[in-house]
Amino acid sequence: MTKADINRVRGDFVSAAIRARDVGFRWLVLHFAHGYLGQSFFSSHSNKRDDEYGGSADNRGRFLLETLAAVRGVWPEDRPLAARFGVIEFDGRDDETLQDAIDLVGKFKVAGLNFIDASLGFSTPAANIPWGPGFIAPYAERIRKATGLPGSASWNITQPEQADELIRSGQLDLVMIGKAMLADPHWPYSAARKLGAERPSWTLPAPYAHWLASYRAA
Ligand SMILES: Cc1cc2nc3c(=O)[nH]c(=O)nc-3n(C[C@H](O)[C@H](O)[C@H](O)COP(=O)(O)O)c2cc1C
Repeated sequence: MTKADINRVRGDFVSAAIRARDVGFRWLVLHFAHGYLGQSFFSSHSNKRDDEYGGSADNRGRFLLETLAAVRGVWPEDRPLAARFGVIEFDGRDDETLQDAIDLVGKFKVAGLNFIDASLGFSTPAANIPWGPGFIAPYAERIRKATGLPGSASWNITQPEQADELIRSGQLDLVMIGKAMLADPHWPYSAARKLGAERPSWTLPAPYAHWLASYRAA
């Protein structure tokens, strides 16, 4: 990418944020994970630049930080701005990557980030990813505790008790559920029932909750 390309894409993020703002979205997530462009700048596997956007961790974080600051400039103060960020690659350099990620998320916070959704990078075929239940949660916890930003994670969080424990133990502020929601679109309702919540149906929007509660006394 030339500098002109970088400026154009940063502008595209801002334009997208303006559209999201104007149609009334309440929560915006910048995607800086999974090998998408932001992640590709951050990862030393994919970023081979020798200008101020490559090399040191500060330089590899520059596009992400500038983009976030530019988006914050148009995103209303009273609406949360979040980022999904690949904070680890499972490539044998995990301590270094995590420390770079913690430093950068600290700068994101100063630039106006409200919430961090920790995920992983997909920037090298040499990665050895330990797929398992909630395997990103411990890294999200480190980022969250080091930066003081509320945080979340996804990846193989499927059981209500597991999700509950991740929140209660202070590892996460929010769980993100993907495949389990595809398998059961009523996952929050089922989970609330299983966990003995007082009014499980009120995990649903009010018009559904009212009728479900009336019929099932739930
Ligand atoms: C069908 C499908 C499509 C996905 N597409 C994307 C995507 O486009 N971008 C992305 O960042 N993650 C994508 N993901 C990953 C999810 O955001 C999520 O991180 C992942 O599924 C792990 O959470 P889970 O174990 O609860 O499903 C996708 C997942 C699924 C199952």
